[in-house]
Amino acid sequence: MTYLITGGAGFIGTNYCLYFLNFSKHKDDLLVVVDKLTYASNDLVIKLSKENKRVIFVKEDITRYNKMNLIFKQYHFDYVINFAAESHVDRSIVNPKLFIVNNINGTLNLLKLSLKYKVKRFHQVSTDEVYGATLLNSSYRFKENDLLSPTNPYSVSKASSDLLTLSFFKTYGLNVTISRCSNNFGMYQYEEKLIPLVIKNAMNNHKIPVYGNGNNIRDWINVKDHVYALDEIVQKGKSGEIYNISTHNAHSNIELIKFILKVLNKDESLIEYVKDRKGHDLRYALDTTKLNEELGVKFNNSKFFEDLEEYVLKITKGQ
Ligand SMILES: NC(=O)c1ccc[n+]([C@@H]2O[C@H](COP(=O)([O-])OP(=O)(O)OC[C@H]3O[C@@H](n4cnc5c(N)ncnc54)[C@H](O)[C@@H]3O)[C@@H](O)[C@H]2O)c1
Repeated sequence: MTYLITGGAGFIGTNYCLYFLNFSKHKDDLLVVVDKLTYASNDLVIKLSKENKRVIFVKEDITRYNKMNLIFKQYHFDYVINFAAESHVDRSIVNPKLFIVNNINGTLNLLKLSLKYKVKRFHQVSTDEVYGATLLNSSYRFKENDLLSPTNPYSVSKASSDLLTLSFFKTYGLNVTISRCSNNFGMYQYEEKLIPLVIKNAMNNHKIPVYGNGNNIRDWINVKDHVYALDEIVQKGKSGEIYNISTHNAHSNIELIKFILKVLNKDESLIEYVKDRKGHDLRYALDTTKLNEELGVKFNNSKFFEDLEEYVLKITKGQ
């Protein structure tokens, strides 16, 4: 089977490629990675493509339909997994148009080409942010069929891409699945995101900016768990269906920052409270019954702090 992985030089895409190459179930499969290499990319997949015949890297922008058409024509993809997106909420608040044009048009091109070249399955990698926020003290968890209520240009672009994907299933009968995952941590994440930023600033004894009072809650997942669940959805998920992915590790930003400072043996005086992000969502939470029961994908969530500590220490050792 031949897989197109768009955005495969980014954080989660790179981790998916590593998972793909390390597991025997994909040992006869070919990976074609397309990435336009923004500031958020890293070069691991490019290096892998030079060493491993099962990986091909193509530098291209998914919003360029004619160029993508040539790539689809050349490789006859069986599976398309779309990770490619502008992904940082703060940047979307400064430059909303980039997110709308890049994320929505890019997804539309991939859907059109998946239909044209009869791919077996198109998978859209989405986010818990499309549901909007719940209240801090609420125990509600969003289910896959809940109303979408995105609150910033990034999450609007992701919700729109989800709806476009579903429209290709309903209108044209394209075989699609969508996964909506919570916040990821792990290797190869660009340093502007919360956890790598905290580690970098703490290591350099620089101030750690914390939005508002730091009480906003995010639900964290090890990126290795995300890519495993995502692959299971691509293989076993039902066409036209959405699956939430979470390991239910909800922690406030300040709790997480204090934990990282403790691991690094740094003082909490590095924390600096700054003006809150515009429209800052209070809390995200996902119901994962569908993933757990229909696909049998279950996680042990008691390892969160252990995994986070291991990751923080890996970064400090430059691994
Ligand atoms: N990071 C998270 O916690 C998280 C959680 C849930 C969902 N997601 C989703 O997962 C996907 C990957 O996220 P990430 O954290 O790895 O993001 P990232 O910013 O680290 O990587 C995105 C990659 O996509 C590439 N890209 C962007 N636009 C492109 C285009 N037009 N053509 C080709 N390549 C393009 C970039 O060069 C980059 O390599 C995104 O769709 C994001 O919305 C992320």
